[in-house]
Amino acid sequence: MEKKIKIAIYPGSFDPITNGHVDIINRASNLFDKLIITVASNNTKKALLSIDRRVDILNKTFSNKANIEIDYFNGLLVDYAIRKNVFTIVRGLRTLSDFEYEFRMAIINRNLDKRIETIFLMTDEKYSHISSSSIKEIYNLNGDINQFVPKTVSKTLCNLKNEKNNK
Ligand code: COA
Repeated sequence: MEKKIKIAIYPGSFDPITNGHVDIINRASNLFDKLIITVASNNTKKALLSIDRRVDILNKTFSNKANIEIDYFNGLLVDYAIRKNVFTIVRGLRTLSDFEYEFRMAIINRNLDKRIETIFLMTDEKYSHISSSSIKEIYNLNGDINQFVPKTVSKTLCNLKNEKNNK
C-alpha cells in the first residue's frame, strides 16, 4: 500500500516569530513529514514587520530543516488549506485564555470545512510568558529582546531600527 505523507499547516501572524513559535515548529516538524509555516497577511493586528520580512526571517531561521516550507496567505485559512489540499492545522496553546480563542477558531474553521482538524501542542512552560506583542513593546522601548527570539529576528529588528534612525 502507498504510504500517505502527513502534512500540516502552522499558520500565524509571526510578527515577529518568538522562541515559543520556534519550539512548536521544531516539535511539529518531528510529528509530520512536512510542515508548512504560513504567514497571515490580512491580520487585524497592527504589524511591526512587513510580510516579506516575516517570510524572510522564517526562511532564514529554518533553512536547515528540509521538511519545512515557508509561505504566506491572504483571506481565509480554510481557503488556503483547500488550495494546498492540506487539512491539518497546528496551533500552540499557552494559557487558558489562549484556549478560548483557539477553541473558537478551530470550531469556526471546521464549520467552514469539515475536513479541517486542528491539533494543539502545549507550549513549553519556558515560553508560556512570551508573546509577539511583548517583544514589540520591549523593542519599541529599546529593551533587550535577545533571550526571547531567534537571532534572525534580533538582526532584522536591529536593521529596522537603523533604517528608521537614518531617515
Ligand atoms: N509560545 C509563545 N507565544 C506564542 C506561542 C508559543 N508557542 N504560540 C503563539 N504565541 C503567541 C504569539 O506570540 C502571539 O502573540 P500576540 O497575541 O501578542 O501577537 C499570539 O500567541 C498568537 O499569534 P500567532 O501564533 O502569530 O497567531 P495569530 O493568533 O496571530 O494568528 C491566524 C491567527 C492567522 C491563524 C488567524 O487569524 C487566521 O486564520 N486568519 C485568517 C483569517 C481566517 O481564516 N479567519 C477565520 C478564522 S476564525
